[in-house]
Amino acid sequence: MTAPADLTVVENEAAQARFDDLIAQDSRIEPRDWMPDAYRKTLIRQISQHAHSEIIGMQPESNWISRAPSLKRKAILLAKVQDEAGHGLYLYSAAQTLGIGREEMMQQLIEGRARYSSIFNYTTPTWADMGAIGWLVDGAAICNQVPLCRASYGPYGRAMVRICKEESFHQRQGFEILLELMQGTEAQREMAQDAVNRWYWPSLMMFGPPDDESPNSAQSMAWNIKRFSNDDLRQRFVGMLVPQAEVLGVTLPDPNLAWNEERQAYDMSEIDWTEFHEVLAGRGPANAERLRRRREAHEEGAWVREAAAEYARKQALKQQSAA
Ligand SMILES: [Fe+2]
Ligand SMILES: [Fe+2]
Repeated sequence: MTAPADLTVVENEAAQARFDDLIAQDSRIEPRDWMPDAYRKTLIRQISQHAHSEIIGMQPESNWISRAPSLKRKAILLAKVQDEAGHGLYLYSAAQTLGIGREEMMQQLIEGRARYSSIFNYTTPTWADMGAIGWLVDGAAICNQVPLCRASYGPYGRAMVRICKEESFHQRQGFEILLELMQGTEAQREMAQDAVNRWYWPSLMMFGPPDDESPNSAQSMAWNIKRFSNDDLRQRFVGMLVPQAEVLGVTLPDPNLAWNEERQAYDMSEIDWTEFHEVLAGRGPANAERLRRRREAHEEGAWVREAAAEYARKQALKQQSAA
């Protein structure tokens, strides 16, 4: 990769023109291609934040692995949480192709300098939260991520294809947990409804601020990273939830939710963004706990990283002496 400073003005213009061409043709940008600095930085920020979200996102659910109500549920939840670890790893690898090291990204996360999705700063007090997370949080993730399979940056788009396949399993397992609870006792139905009440609004906030307060969206759309606006995606998500909520028999906690024939879209209440900003500012129910746990896991894993590095060093030496 050549840094723009190493290119002459003419070469730089030619590189920019080629980049613009690839974007105009809706082609892919690959790690070997020249790209504007701002494009690279935007992608590093977005992909690393996405990777951090997958990794931190394991915590609220792993909390329930040992307490899941049956062996079958334990096995399913364990597989789901393990998938999220895999998603984090694909995404860290995709970010690395842009020139940032994994160690650096991890450092940013554990020092609290990097963002991850605010949704994972909420707590999971009941088993029904596993259902609501799968149905609503993984559901929102799918709506956000399916269009990212066509993101202009090749390694990101390809990672998303694989991730999305697994996310749809996650959403179905959440739906199925809620369905079973809703067909159970009165107390189980109440527990499911309570979890939906707590996760519904935070899941809508996962799409980010309203379009008129999302200044970076236009550039991301011009670069074919983002394909739909935050509000469009949110609308799509609600459209997907309404019929599913009917099948489940749960009520979505918005008294103003109604189909608007004229707009061909759902009307809904204003989102309370003050809560979103509080959680984003680190004052959510579990922000400190999530980072503390991540830091601990990183420290406890130091010996694994050292052992792997030592093994790699020995293998390299062996190969050298064989050559
Ligand atoms: Fe995931
Ligand atoms: Fe997931």
